[in-house]
Amino acid sequence: MRLIMLGPPGAGKGTQGAMLARALQVPHIATGDIFRQAVKEFTALGRKAQSYLERGELVPDEIVVEIVLERLQKPDCGKGFILDGFPRTVKQAQALEEFLHKEGNALTGVILLDVDPEVLVERLTGRRVCRRCGATYHFQYMPSRVEGRCDECGGELYQREDDREETVRHRLDVHESQTRPLRDYYEKRNLLYVFDAAQPIEGVFVEIMEQLGRGQL
Ligand code: AP5
Ligand code: MG
Ligand code: ZN
Repeated sequence: MRLIMLGPPGAGKGTQGAMLARALQVPHIATGDIFRQAVKEFTALGRKAQSYLERGELVPDEIVVEIVLERLQKPDCGKGFILDGFPRTVKQAQALEEFLHKEGNALTGVILLDVDPEVLVERLTGRRVCRRCGATYHFQYMPSRVEGRCDECGGELYQREDDREETVRHRLDVHESQTRPLRDYYEKRNLLYVFDAAQPIEGVFVEIMEQLGRGQL
């Protein structure tokens, strides 16, 4: 199963990606998570990426592509993977396609989480993330059992730096101009599967699993 989660900030790529990875037993590779971890650890990558993340701009293609292609060569990707937040530009999509082609592989499908931008601001400003394990919550739509604490590991929940309203709005614009063209890109390749991501979390997941079960994805 080689899947891509596509959709605007807050559509649920991370939420659904983590649930799918658990169900399908493949790694969930989220470029945003990789960058945030690098920033936290002050690595060379973190220093390069930090200012882009803070401003809600895209990290340059060369940097992202190198990181992702390196990650996809790890043995745990042998059974497949779920890419979340990558590709984000046509250049990134082309680089991925070329890489998979060289390996004799192809994508299974691209899961587009489609949702009206109106609801996204509310989802993102209400999101809380575990500092320790990265699990994602929403104070209203997916609250943790104990306020401020992660259900999985007991870690502290925090608000992402780029989830402040001004930055959220900018990220949505960046998505419109740089990532939306990927819909056409994958539609032309007959790889695009659209899901209504405005419904509750569980409903989106069930629809995706049903399509996978029917072999239609
Ligand atoms: P990244 O971390 O990928 O951020 P993003 O794309 O903006 O997406 P989000 O993580 O904000 O949203 P999501 O779709 O994962 O939603 P979630 O499931 O958490 O990227 C961050 C930054 O890294 C970028 O700005 C850029 O700088 C850099 N970057 C990363 N990849 C890059 C690349 N390829 N190229 C260049 N730069 C790159 O859900 C959101 C909230 O809503 C949660 O609180 C959740 O609980 C809730 N929720 C989810 N689904 C539902 C639902 N159905 N109903 C109600 N609530 C829901
Ligand atoms: Mg995410
Ligand atoms: Zn945790």
